[in-house]
Amino acid sequence: METVISLAKVTAELGGRPVLRGVDLTVRTGEAVALLGANGSGKSTAVRAAVGQVPVTGGEAALFGSPVRRFRDWARVGYVPQRSTAAGGVPATIREVVTAGRLGRRRLRPLGRADRAAVDRAIGLVGLADRASDSVDALSGGQHQRVLIARALAGEPDVLIMDEPLAGVDLDSQQVLARTLRAQLERGVSVLLVLHELGPLQPLIDRAVVLADGRVQRTVEHPGRLPETQTACHPPTDPEPSARPTLQTGIL
Ligand SMILES: Nc1ncnc2c1ncn2[C@@H]1O[C@H](COP(=O)(O)OP(=O)(O)OP(=O)(O)O)[C@@H](O)[C@H]1O
Ligand SMILES: [Mg+2]
Repeated sequence: METVISLAKVTAELGGRPVLRGVDLTVRTGEAVALLGANGSGKSTAVRAAVGQVPVTGGEAALFGSPVRRFRDWARVGYVPQRSTAAGGVPATIREVVTAGRLGRRRLRPLGRADRAAVDRAIGLVGLADRASDSVDALSGGQHQRVLIARALAGEPDVLIMDEPLAGVDLDSQQVLARTLRAQLERGVSVLLVLHELGPLQPLIDRAVVLADGRVQRTVEHPGRLPETQTACHPPTDPEPSARPTLQTGIL
């Protein structure tokens, strides 16, 4: 199986402080990996290092087998950053923002029918088909997040990297995202998700990697095979909590 994302003993500093202190993380073709951990544990920094947005001071970050600093095939990567704005002050419709996710594939050629179909499909997948011509300025936070997810999907990338795609998204939309990701995984797309809790995505996740203070605290294979209560943010009272291995995926 090809290694799609690889962080090997990666260290990184921000503002003169070490933020990643030797992180190892691997995502292979068709795998879904969740990166969990408390606020400030380094999750966003780790995914930003994986896409070359944070310089690595030690170890190596690689995409599809190439060191990130030499990687050029960005059309293969769909990245949804944590809570950003899609509009950047310029009024744009949902369709325009989602179309931007397709441009990496086109280089400078005009968009064709297949591109427009991919854009419409992505907008439909996140449930915004009836709003496609609306300005993104008029959307709620959760709808905005769905536009960013559609933008990543529109490029039909080989890997989807999403930083907290469930944040501010209601349960129905979380389930839409779970269905969308399942379809992507079935097509062989690889997925790396930063999450605070696995929620409806739990059955899809092949591996959960928990960061604490810039280090991998532990890794859990197939967390979806654990009972739901053990991966909840606030597990209900368990009569025998020590009898089974627990995975705290909420605020640790
Ligand atoms: N641009 C920056 N300059 C300086 N320090 C930063 C910068 N960005 C992040 N940090 C620090 O790096 C650490 C890790 O931040 P990061 O955003 O990776 O955490 P996170 O695990 O994604 O947290 P959250 O769950 O809140 O999103 C934090 O202590 C944060 O204060
Ligand atoms: Mg973050």
